Amino acid sequence: MQIIRDIAMLHRAVTALKQGGKSVALVPTMGALHDGHLSLVRMGRRVADQVIVSIFVNPTQFGPNEDFAAYPRDEARDAALLASEGVGLLWAPNVATVYPPGHSTHIEVAELGADYCGAARPGHFDGVATIVAKLFNQVQPDVAIFGEKDWQQLAIIRRMARDLDFGLDILGAPIARDHDGLALSSRNAYLSAGQRSAATAFPDALKAAVAALANGGDMYETLAKAEAAILAGGFDSVDYIALANPDTLGRLDAFRAPARLLAAARIGKTRLIDNYSVG
Ligand code: PAF
Repeated sequence: MQIIRDIAMLHRAVTALKQGGKSVALVPTMGALHDGHLSLVRMGRRVADQVIVSIFVNPTQFGPNEDFAAYPRDEARDAALLASEGVGLLWAPNVATVYPPGHSTHIEVAELGADYCGAARPGHFDGVATIVAKLFNQVQPDVAIFGEKDWQQLAIIRRMARDLDFGLDILGAPIARDHDGLALSSRNAYLSAGQRSAATAFPDALKAAVAALANGGDMYETLAKAEAAILAGGFDSVDYIALANPDTLGRLDAFRAPARLLAAARIGKTRLIDNYSVG
């Protein structure tokens, strides 16, 4: 597997692929790869001739008191995993390549970025939209694949790609879950053993809420019950739990399909997100 850190070299490699008639799938990541990321790579291999994975811990999507410095980084381990999955090219630029001095352009997907994680993490989605737009321009893929675990991020990226006429396909890959239902996340590595076993309360409460809503339960009562179950299960706080339109992310005031149950909760210093389709 080729590891490239220089934009001109990347362009040469991608041009050679395209001249050879190969389609390219991009899987953007921040590294600390787990089975969820590998499921995106496998989807990429199914839909395109070549998969390019990017690893870049993007500073502009972290707030000043967030975990940018502590974010787990192990490129050698990640590269070995990707090579064993048949990835041909790893795009791993450094911060100065992506954000040279004087970099001053950013993208804001205003309508979709303000609520939910955007409210708890001001500026986060501007950083995400900006880096993803840059990755699209750098790699010029035919298709890009993102996990559905960050549903708001996926909706924002779809809207950004549409609004800015990127002309590529955006695919969402189903959430990969651990044996007890917890969504796989690089941040699960922060959980102590006790927190990890308590964390199953989060998907359990959301699944119960999905069942209650599908059976005609009152939305506000159902969401309040789910929040109480998450807190009783050992979480310290619930940032949000809401039923939303899957595309516009507008909050619903009662269940009507199509709907997505979106939630974020904190256990110790770790903030977890999850979501389920309802109906
Ligand atoms: O989901 C992630 O890992 C990141 O937000 C992404 C899409 C790679 C942008 O940095």
